[in-house]
Amino acid sequence: MARAAPLPVALLLCLALAGSANAERKPVGFYGLKNKKGDFSIKVTNWGATLVSVLVPDCQGNLADVILGYDTLRGYVNGTGSFGATVGRVVNRIAKSRFVLDGKAYRLFRNDGNNSIHGGHRGFGKVIWTVKEYVRDGDTPYITFFYHSFDGEQGFPGDLDVYVTYQLSGPYELSIRMNATATTKATPVNLANHAYWNLAGHGSGDVLEHELQLLASRYTPLDDTKIPTGQVVPVAGTMYDFRTPTPVGAHMEIVPGGGGGYDINFAVDGQQDAMRKVAFVRDPESGRALELWANQPGVQLYTSNWVSNEKGKAGEVYEQYGALCLETQAYPDAVNHPEFPSSIVRPGQVYKHGMLFKFSN
Ligand SMILES: *[C@@H]1O[C@H](CO)[C@@H](O)[C@H](O)[C@H]1NC(C)=O
Ligand SMILES: *[C@@H]1O[C@H](CO)[C@@H](O)[C@H](O)[C@H]1NC(C)=O
Ligand SMILES: *[C@@H]1O[C@H](CO)[C@@H](O)[C@H](O)[C@H]1NC(C)=O
Repeated sequence: MARAAPLPVALLLCLALAGSANAERKPVGFYGLKNKKGDFSIKVTNWGATLVSVLVPDCQGNLADVILGYDTLRGYVNGTGSFGATVGRVVNRIAKSRFVLDGKAYRLFRNDGNNSIHGGHRGFGKVIWTVKEYVRDGDTPYITFFYHSFDGEQGFPGDLDVYVTYQLSGPYELSIRMNATATTKATPVNLANHAYWNLAGHGSGDVLEHELQLLASRYTPLDDTKIPTGQVVPVAGTMYDFRTPTPVGAHMEIVPGGGGGYDINFAVDGQQDAMRKVAFVRDPESGRALELWANQPGVQLYTSNWVSNEKGKAGEVYEQYGALCLETQAYPDAVNHPEFPSSIVRPGQVYKHGMLFKFSN
């Protein structure tokens, strides 16, 4: 177990935050994990328990960083796209920023029209996590982050202890394991990793030619405020049918400047809480591919519809459709939809979310 020295910029950030209400003096830094062969590595930061980079080879051994992000912590602090972040306490939208649980009404921050999105204006992707363990060597290097969310934080009920572990294994496997324990009150919990994937490499243009397969024969349609209607309907015969590998852009509405593209939840086939294959993505140019396994009822497909002129890593500028997000999750607004699988965690219960990304070329 070892801890990396925080970067100088981290110290500045730390001091800058020290005056705010809930600030503890925790250093913020970047941490790396690398496989033994040296051709597969990731970088993370405890700011938002965020995945910063993922370097994977193509069949000729050319490494590319396949997620969007920033070079500096300042970029993550300022950014609004949740690039690579651990989003919570509840990812996605909650209708009208309110819900009723055990007879009590709760109000949240409105930060998406009248709705609340991604846990509020300072969700788990915008707070400093503690580095609990950091094992950077060996066959299965890993890092574990911890965050204690307090009763009433961003409007949510009860204390919540949250752990996120990033680990490398297999030839080219990355697992992300999250758990959350409610200690005082029942609360909705829906955590997701918000990585933006581009298997040709970040900044290499749009992903409309990437082949996408989603093991999902149904999806949850939205009303005009982007809240699920409550229906779960078949994808067959719609633009949401990715049951066989299909180019991302094959059927989607493409609207310059935003408004087009996908931003919707699919109901993943199979037993809800079992680890099962969710998606397969392949860049036909480089041959890089990823298979995603997870144990959640849903997966949000978001095609970076609102990304525009975003200054990212290594001087690259990210544009619309420059990546796709596959956020495994509970169904959006589940807390207001008793007909959806429950997202409530009661004291003594443990929320567990496992993700496995298997890369190949
Ligand atoms: C902060 O974010 C805004 C909006 O995304 C962007 O225009 C600006 O360049 C960013 N500033 C820095 C210092 O990254
Ligand atoms: C927010 O709710 C109010 C009251 O119901 C409504 O008049 C307004 O149009 C809503 N705003 C948006 C952006 O949906
Ligand atoms: C949550 O994850 C952490 C880190 O892996 C682990 O130490 C802890 O036992 C887990 N908690 C539960 C309740 O499984």
